[in-house]
Amino acid sequence: MYQYGLIYNIIWTFLLAALPLPTLGGEGSTYRGKHVGKINSYHHQVGGDVYAVNEYTLLLAGFNYDGNAQDAFFWAGTSNRPGPQGFLVPDEHGKTNVLERYLNKDFTLTLPDNKKITEINWFALYDLTKHNTFGDVYIPEEFEPPARQIITQLSRRSHGVSVGSVELIDAKTIIIPEFTYNGAGKDTYFWVGVGPQPSSKGFKVPDEYGYLDPLRIYNNETIKLELPGDLTIFDIDWLSIYDVASSDNYGSVIIPDAPNVPPALSSTLDYKSALPALSSTSLVIFK
Ligand SMILES: *[C@@H]1O[C@H](CO)[C@@H](O)[C@H](O)[C@H]1NC(C)=O
Repeated sequence: MYQYGLIYNIIWTFLLAALPLPTLGGEGSTYRGKHVGKINSYHHQVGGDVYAVNEYTLLLAGFNYDGNAQDAFFWAGTSNRPGPQGFLVPDEHGKTNVLERYLNKDFTLTLPDNKKITEINWFALYDLTKHNTFGDVYIPEEFEPPARQIITQLSRRSHGVSVGSVELIDAKTIIIPEFTYNGAGKDTYFWVGVGPQPSSKGFKVPDEYGYLDPLRIYNNETIKLELPGDLTIFDIDWLSIYDVASSDNYGSVIIPDAPNVPPALSSTLDYKSALPALSSTSLVIFK
């Protein structure tokens, strides 16, 4: 298994180097979610960028704070501007201690009590004794945090292929509910690529267990796929049940351009997502 993974990894490194990746502002591999704004800096060298990861979670990127205040906390609220009326946002460890120094840190903060980002007006680093704002960012009007996206039904069905509503869970994860396929293709895979329709110029996606074998029979099963390597849904135009031997598309979905999905942070950050805990065996291969 380990060796298999290693060889596969090497092959992928070459394939991905050759794949013409659409750039999306160069965001592909560093996609962090939807940008909320740059932190306005007033005191104590507070700075960094704030992104929304999902409805409840902020990602602070390149965050700085000198740690020299006595009573500073992450603080959020619904008033017009930061002030005493607000609530404490636990730190990246879920703790509510006085904040210490941060030097160019990336981490996520989840709002308490299932509060949503769209329910607050601002997020700040705030001194609760002196009622002083060290840095803040405002949630833009009509802000839409990333969320899972439901995409269209499969088109061009044959070989008994049918699915429920395919969901993009984050930038690397696709769930195919109620997947059915009669297993009759010789060399058939989950297959992704770029271009107007599925073609043999594509790439295998490991199955729900991380294997690259031809697809077995599926009978109304919910399948979770993880795009391999650095590939994200921003890099692909379609997902197909594709038979490589006959260059035949048994069914496919179009991936919309730049869908507003959560980033796939689990591998790069200590980030516990609030998503269903389906196991992601395929990730192990690429470690
Ligand atoms: C597939 O399974 C779901 C529940 O998981 C069920 O509601 C649905 O009726 C099933 N469909 C078929 C065609 O058996």
